[in-house]
Amino acid sequence: MGYDYRPFSTDFYRIKDPSKFPDFIHSQKRHPVSGLRDSTMQWDFWSLSPESLHQVTWLFGDRGIPATLANMDGFGSHTFSLWNKAGQHYWVKWHLKTQQGIKNMSVEEAGRIAAQNPDYHRQELYEAIARGDNPKWTLNMQIMPVTEAEADIFDINLFDLTKVWSQADYPLIEVGVMELNRNPVNHFAEVEQAAFSPGNLPPGFGTSPDKMLQARLQAYPDAQRYRVGVNHAALEVNKPRCPVNTYHRDGQTRFDGNGGAAPVYQPNSFGGAEDDASYSEPPLRINGDADRYDHRLETDHYTQAGNLFRLMDDAAQARLISNIVASIQDVPLVIQERQILHFMKADPAYGIGVAKGLCL
Ligand code: HEM
Repeated sequence: MGYDYRPFSTDFYRIKDPSKFPDFIHSQKRHPVSGLRDSTMQWDFWSLSPESLHQVTWLFGDRGIPATLANMDGFGSHTFSLWNKAGQHYWVKWHLKTQQGIKNMSVEEAGRIAAQNPDYHRQELYEAIARGDNPKWTLNMQIMPVTEAEADIFDINLFDLTKVWSQADYPLIEVGVMELNRNPVNHFAEVEQAAFSPGNLPPGFGTSPDKMLQARLQAYPDAQRYRVGVNHAALEVNKPRCPVNTYHRDGQTRFDGNGGAAPVYQPNSFGGAEDDASYSEPPLRINGDADRYDHRLETDHYTQAGNLFRLMDDAAQARLISNIVASIQDVPLVIQERQILHFMKADPAYGIGVAKGLCL
């Protein structure tokens, strides 16, 4: 448990307000009556949540199904922060760029492979590492001084998880390499019990006002207290490599000596660990009213989705459109039309392509 960087396969997400996370997840899961997967639920939610368009365009495109786990990039997606001893504060985005090259799988290929071996991706990675073909990624950052963000010169909300930062304005800066160089000795101990949380932050690493990130800070340790147990952070696979002093005591399967004879409360007069303010995050200037804002008031859900569509060549656009048509064809007309309007606003060719595919 150093800095838990858990890369995601996309640099943005389908929603940006955590209060909609349960609804979003429900819409992707099984129908409450039939218990079957349901594309009407999925497209109904997306067509009423236009902020999802950017990631829908990525996921239904070629990059939606990586050929192997080593052939995809990993993104931190959120805006995070870093600061140094001088108190200089930066907003940052993390990007892991595969050194194996981006390779994707077509929907047909994926269907065939999943039918034969649902463990294909996991097995492929395990066997590659066992052969010594250790996959590597170059770790890059986009860095923006917090003071620059205060200038408010951006046409996007820097903390909007459905958007990316321009790489022309904030280019990727290489900072290191991540190599997967060992398989677990015991899968349950090292994988099932692993508990990553965006809230595990070494000194100098911070979060941001991104509301989705704020919600994740609570949600992960909360889930892990159930899934692994209240003392999951003390397990070998999760425990920090440097000493961390807390007053967390007792609870299920407390196997690490439970702090021995050390004081169990703070402040105390008996030499217990003290707060160290030198680790504090620099203050953040904020302005405006604290209120419940409707995250859909911001209406430009289309520019970045359209840019992504226009980055694709004709064949890739055709594959994207045919994947979407295959997924949305049995959905009620009112939802199809609503979604096609979003595609049109991103790029007319996008909307016309889907409409033609549905013979509308
Ligand atoms: C409000 C938004 C979100 C909530 C409440 C949430 C909640 C959770 C929870 C409770 C878990 C299970 C954790 C565990 O048992 O160890 C999980 C897993 C995961 N989430 Fe989220 N999540 C949110 C958004 C996101 C976003 C935006 C991303 C990507 C950028 C993401 C990526 C993941 C990944 C990769 C896992 C699997 C983790 C693992 O296998 O260790 N989640 N999420």
